[in-house]
Amino acid sequence: MSAVVRLAQCFDEWRAAARELIALRVPPAHVQWQSRPGEGDLFSVAPEATDANAPQLRLPRQLVELLQAAACFNVHDRWAFLYQVLWRWQQGQHDVISPADADGARLHAMVKAVHREEHDMHAYVRFRERAESAGAPRFVAWFEPVHEVLPQVARHFARRMGSTSWMIATPTASMLWDGSTLHAGPALMSGAADIDDAGEALWLTYYRSIFNPARVNADLLHSHIPSRFWKNLPEGAIVPAMLSSAANGERRTGQTASVGQRSGAAMIPIAAERAQPVRDLPTTLDQCRRCALWQHATQAVPGIGPAQARIMLVGEQPGDQEDLAGLPFVGPAGALLEQAMQEAGMARDSVYVTNAVKHFKWEPRGKRRLHKTPAQREILACHGWLEEEIQRVQPQVIVALGSTALKSLLQDGAASMTPLIGTPIESDGRWIVSVYHPSYVLRAPDEASRRQAYRVIVDGLKRATMLLEGVVENGNAAVSH
Ligand code: URA
Repeated sequence: MSAVVRLAQCFDEWRAAARELIALRVPPAHVQWQSRPGEGDLFSVAPEATDANAPQLRLPRQLVELLQAAACFNVHDRWAFLYQVLWRWQQGQHDVISPADADGARLHAMVKAVHREEHDMHAYVRFRERAESAGAPRFVAWFEPVHEVLPQVARHFARRMGSTSWMIATPTASMLWDGSTLHAGPALMSGAADIDDAGEALWLTYYRSIFNPARVNADLLHSHIPSRFWKNLPEGAIVPAMLSSAANGERRTGQTASVGQRSGAAMIPIAAERAQPVRDLPTTLDQCRRCALWQHATQAVPGIGPAQARIMLVGEQPGDQEDLAGLPFVGPAGALLEQAMQEAGMARDSVYVTNAVKHFKWEPRGKRRLHKTPAQREILACHGWLEEEIQRVQPQVIVALGSTALKSLLQDGAASMTPLIGTPIESDGRWIVSVYHPSYVLRAPDEASRRQAYRVIVDGLKRATMLLEGVVENGNAAVSH
């Protein structure tokens, strides 16, 4: 069967196309999904007669809701992935929506990230009042959502803001509420600076008045409002100065005023974090504050894969795309890893893929966020999370992708990968296979070294499978090419 191209720019388009493809019994591997017209012109569109005996597509509400929410998740292969889920469901594989299934786990992770983005947008959209002008909305907000949640968030505000007109602009689209109807439009602004604001001074005065230096806790403030939102919040500009004056004396003044008036009240400043119980691990990865990396990351990125995978791949830390998607190895290094896995005969959905460090560490370079290698203290701070995954999944073989992973797995900051390439070691009753990190291949200076580094990864993955199958006893058997 030749490749079939289908255009899906939104959920409804995808749903219509997916229904048709299911009716034609076209398996996922034969469909090329494109998000913009003209993208897939290389492939032939193969219109085939509808099958009269085609299966009726009856889907439970839960599946439809999951698919609809996941469709807002911004990732290049979303339509293909959703079709795969739908196809598997239609084939009777109903565990495809279970979190224990690899596709199901990915589906749920996407839905979770989308709901979280909606929540963040409800919380951090700031409408600014504009100077009067006929026909223009009275309030305008700028927001940069990671996922495509603007329509549902606009419906949320439409229900709450009555007949006042407003617009929410994002880098890719805008939604206008004229007081009675919502209108979807294209991108109209390039940033918050495009809004001429009449009411901002008032809002900042209010914010200053409710800011209580006696109670401020900078870490908590940042944990409640992730750093990517600060730049578009009006109060973002004044918070640093208020924090610094709080730290330099206002904290005491604030407490004297409120506490000191009560007779007998002792004035003992206690940092808020000291009042919180100390736990071995925070209750969820997202709340982890064991090192400072969370402050500049979008979210923590947990591992993903079957609950009882026999092989675990451990990378270094999420990259730029992983940080936005909330999933490990979805960027260029992930593509290379996937290619190597295919060559090694290892199915991605049979292994558990994770990282030694769960938050993206980066430094700005122009408009880009450049990866920065995690420090040993950050690797150690995150080790508990990796250990938790290992104990839960109980893999028999772990592949360390690069030296950060190896250092974490061996809990040894001096561990060196090069001597261990080709020589699996046993640790805590499981094999550890060491290979280069996929990014090492991408950064290699010439074709020869690229090939050689890539081969090390493929060989290591093959060796991991052989160890699992007991083909090698001592871990040292040669890998056939
Ligand atoms: N590099 C990694 O080590 N992990 C990822 O998830 C992505 C890139």
